[in-house]
Amino acid sequence: MTFSHIPVLFQQVISLVAEHGPKRIIDATIGGGGHARGLLERLPEAQLLGIDRDDTAIAAASQNLEPFKDRVVIRKGVFSDMKAIAAAIGWDHADAVLMDIGVSSHQIDTPERGFSFRMDGPLDMRMNQEDTVTAATLLNTASQEELETIIRDYGEEFKARLIAREIVKRREKKPWETTGELNQLLEKIVGFGHQHGLPPATRTFQALRIAVNHELDELTNALKSALEILAPNGILAVITFHSLEDRIVKHFFQYEAATCVCPPKMPICTCGKKKTIDILTRKPVTADEEELKTNPRAACAKLRAAMKLDIEQTTATSSKQ
Ligand SMILES: C[S@@+](CC[C@H](N)C(=O)[O-])C[C@H]1O[C@@H](n2cnc3c(N)ncnc32)[C@H](O)[C@@H]1O
Repeated sequence: MTFSHIPVLFQQVISLVAEHGPKRIIDATIGGGGHARGLLERLPEAQLLGIDRDDTAIAAASQNLEPFKDRVVIRKGVFSDMKAIAAAIGWDHADAVLMDIGVSSHQIDTPERGFSFRMDGPLDMRMNQEDTVTAATLLNTASQEELETIIRDYGEEFKARLIAREIVKRREKKPWETTGELNQLLEKIVGFGHQHGLPPATRTFQALRIAVNHELDELTNALKSALEILAPNGILAVITFHSLEDRIVKHFFQYEAATCVCPPKMPICTCGKKKTIDILTRKPVTADEEELKTNPRAACAKLRAAMKLDIEQTTATSSKQ
């Protein structure tokens, strides 16, 4: 099988994770296994659990990681279930969790998967092809208000109301079927004049993909699960591809790294908040020019990483002060 995906921020991810010498690694978005392979080569003692919700990714990663099969287990599932998936193979902790979220190049570049407005295909967009709701299901059955909310909140598209109205109007004559049809409508409504040079369909396609795959809820829940399963000094590394995702990771890290979350006017701290992580990347790591020359898709990638603290030790130290 050909599965083309160039892992983004490859050197940065491998160095950051490998520096801490993890023995058990969860790659929660195994994809084609590019990052996983780099980690297994660099860390000969490490064992790796790979997770993905896409059967094609599972097959590609299994093939790519065949030389390391004694140290690798790959499971189909969603990353918000990583604790249960790990428990099912007897892991009660991990020393590193990597999440490289979003879609793979393979998913985008396969027209039948319906992720791209650049190629005609069915309006599908499911990462897990066993899920029942596709982009066409949403376009043909969601109310106009629901569609407007999806397009505005997940696409940050300011013409969301007009787009939702036109989607509903058109489906009364003929149900939505293909990416080409939707792209045509968006070119007409959105036009090429704004959106910082983005093609007119970009934001609406992103919104539908997020809705079909519940991507933001998945991410929020997975960050909590990752922190729970990490052992003290364990590393959490997350790569995101758009601002909605990056904001969730940034706020999660800021909250977990805070020692107090009382309102600023409180004279003394009463919240009892404990700091649970140290942030390792003050600013997100982004691709350098060299990487962008060979992989323009890395342009939107942002890597943030944190180390879980040993809370018992932190509490003992702070109570002695
Ligand atoms: C950018 S690719 C990962 C590429 C991988 N790091 C590599 O080096 O080949 C993202 C992968 O995450 C998977 N994915 C996205 N959301 C997921 C979720 N909630 N649970 C499990 N897998 C998910 C996608 O199916 C896709 O294969």
